[in-house]
Amino acid sequence: LANGLGTTPPMGWNSWNHFHCNIDEKTIRETAEAVVSTGLSKLGYEYVNIDDCWAEISRDDKGNLVPKKSTFPSGIKALADYVHSKGLKLGIYSDAGYFTCSKTMPGSLGYEEHDAKTFAAWGIDYLKYDNCNNDGSKPTVRYPVMTRALMNAGRSIFFSLCEWGDLHPALWGAKVGNSWRTTNDISDTWDSMVSRADMNEVYADYARPGGWNDPDMLEVGNGGMTKDEYITHFSIWAISKAPLLIGCDVRNMTKETMEIIGNQEVIEVNQDQLGVQAKKVRMEGDLEIWAGPLSSYKTALLLVNRGSSRSPITAHWDDIGIPPNTAVEARDLWEHKTLITQFVENLAATVGSHASKMYVLTPVA
Ligand code: DGJ
Repeated sequence: LANGLGTTPPMGWNSWNHFHCNIDEKTIRETAEAVVSTGLSKLGYEYVNIDDCWAEISRDDKGNLVPKKSTFPSGIKALADYVHSKGLKLGIYSDAGYFTCSKTMPGSLGYEEHDAKTFAAWGIDYLKYDNCNNDGSKPTVRYPVMTRALMNAGRSIFFSLCEWGDLHPALWGAKVGNSWRTTNDISDTWDSMVSRADMNEVYADYARPGGWNDPDMLEVGNGGMTKDEYITHFSIWAISKAPLLIGCDVRNMTKETMEIIGNQEVIEVNQDQLGVQAKKVRMEGDLEIWAGPLSSYKTALLLVNRGSSRSPITAHWDDIGIPPNTAVEARDLWEHKTLITQFVENLAATVGSHASKMYVLTPVA
């Protein structure tokens, strides 16, 4: 969507994966504080996004959405001011239906103009727009109504389409929003995570600056996967130019979680100016090679072992898009080491079960 936003994939945090409906303004404020105090904001994480369950079940007599009195007593405008005072941005959630998925609050169907103006007046910077409890008409009809409403609202608001990939949103999403979900909901398991990675991968050609494929939010730090599995999760999301929306409780995260979501070199791959989503360029059984171009003739490379035993994986230049006989220097983004050897035709590494190796390859003279 040509609103000047999302020129690189959005980075931030969202309440859903960890808190579901158990949210309140204190949690959001403390999260904003933690995003700054942990150093995550310096790494590029800027959106603090409230998901479902923030409003009362009924609109007021003027048709306005009403922040839930028991959990958001100060209102959303005050929260936006607070989040902005920390140098961050505030995101909110609504639905292209009569009620949101939780059915605890109204959706925006029929109220698009009204709600877009409310969000703009509150100082909202990001809108996630869900697809539950609608009238049965197509998302391609309902979503652009909100796009136009946002265009008329007088504020630049990142528009995230949460249509779960039902109607192949990659094919029409770029005109309507800044990102589009290509999958149904992720859960905090290895199988769920890799299957979302696969569903998202087939649409790689549709991602570009201003419009990104969204395989759903991060589960890193929520406890359901091993360290290696979370590293694989974060590496695939980064190389796939997916939104990097943290889904854990950043107020109470471990050093290990911070090491993963705070890996600056991996984040730089995600935020590279070229904005080309990597693809799975070769699969041999459980062994996968993902690669994609970066700016300045660099290449991002990810070796993933989905099997149960440690195995060697070899990436050939032919597969990963590097011209023949090109010597490259390899930076290992998880070891934070530049390898001593240069490579001219392929790169091989041994990768543990459910683990991965991620590199940036830079041509040398
Ligand atoms: C479905 C979405 O896919 C989730 O990310 C979350 O927003 C829930 N709805 C909230 O009800």
